[in-house]
Amino acid sequence: MPVSLSGRSFLKLLDFTPDEIRYLIKLGHEFKRLKMAGVPHRYLEGKNIVLLFEKTSTRTRCSFEVAGHDLGMGVIYLDPKGSQMGKKESVADTARVLGRMFDGIEYRGFGQEIVEELAAYAGVPVWNGLTTEFHPTQMIADMMTIEECFPQGTRGLKLVFMGDAQNNVANSLMVVCAKLGLHFVACGPAKQMPAADLVERCRAIAAETGGSVELEEDPRAACTGAHVVYTDVWVSMGEPDELWAERIELLSPYRVTCELMDLAADDAIFMHCLPAYHDAKTEVGARVAEKFGVTELEVTDEVFEGPRSVVFDEAENRMHSIKAVMYATLK
Ligand code: CP
Ligand code: NVA
Repeated sequence: MPVSLSGRSFLKLLDFTPDEIRYLIKLGHEFKRLKMAGVPHRYLEGKNIVLLFEKTSTRTRCSFEVAGHDLGMGVIYLDPKGSQMGKKESVADTARVLGRMFDGIEYRGFGQEIVEELAAYAGVPVWNGLTTEFHPTQMIADMMTIEECFPQGTRGLKLVFMGDAQNNVANSLMVVCAKLGLHFVACGPAKQMPAADLVERCRAIAAETGGSVELEEDPRAACTGAHVVYTDVWVSMGEPDELWAERIELLSPYRVTCELMDLAADDAIFMHCLPAYHDAKTEVGARVAEKFGVTELEVTDEVFEGPRSVVFDEAENRMHSIKAVMYATLK
């Protein structure tokens, strides 16, 4: 049966079948080709969308804005202080108001239950632009990027997530790998491993697709033979600054270095959803360097800037893939 996602919300990949996820990735590649060829694609002319951001963003916000404009839509951005939601108006009431005015709603913020509640009340598609638990639009871009690097197919590839293996990006990678038959390894200390119930759920999915889910505390064992080495920040948005000391202590052995990349497959790539702390040239990076004496956190500058790094292709693909998600659900 042909895939149709028309009218659906995009809240987490657990809600989607492997065929539906593959369809979105393929559509992302198609939109990339159209954009590169300069072919206009204002397929959603006359529609309007609203972007609700309770946390900051560069890639996700710009992707939704550019993708929305390319598709011919009106786009309204509401920053963390720009709406009544949560302060003077409940999530359910906000959803019902925005659903009367807009054809689709993007939400970036805190608990997954918030985006689920928005979707339950809005009456229009809601897209998760990152919650504490999941970052599903990032996954469509990441799989596009992996497919570009491994055109012979992604099934059976080994993807290792290094570091804070219980965060939104790690959780989402575990789900997408399970759905698409990749071998996922969460590599970090026991304290930062993904929740047992999500691991169990992903293992059950992987059993159907030929993938696997492994938890590994030894960084060398995890990176050996990996096709994709992926990492993310050690303290995520919404977590307190006080966590830095503990995380640096716990996660330093999991910093992605050239030595670890040398254990990976010959054609291995390095990925990061960004933003990344690979030097001290940021406000937070400089503060951490001054306080803890480390200038590179989750990845060394050498790996980040090195030939295996595909982080800027990955960032670009956010726009093409978000366009695919909006088009598929609004058309
Ligand atoms: N990767 C990502 O979501 O980046 P932003 O926080 O800049 O949106
Ligand atoms: N884990 C990170 C991802 C940023 C795109 C965060 O939530 O801050």
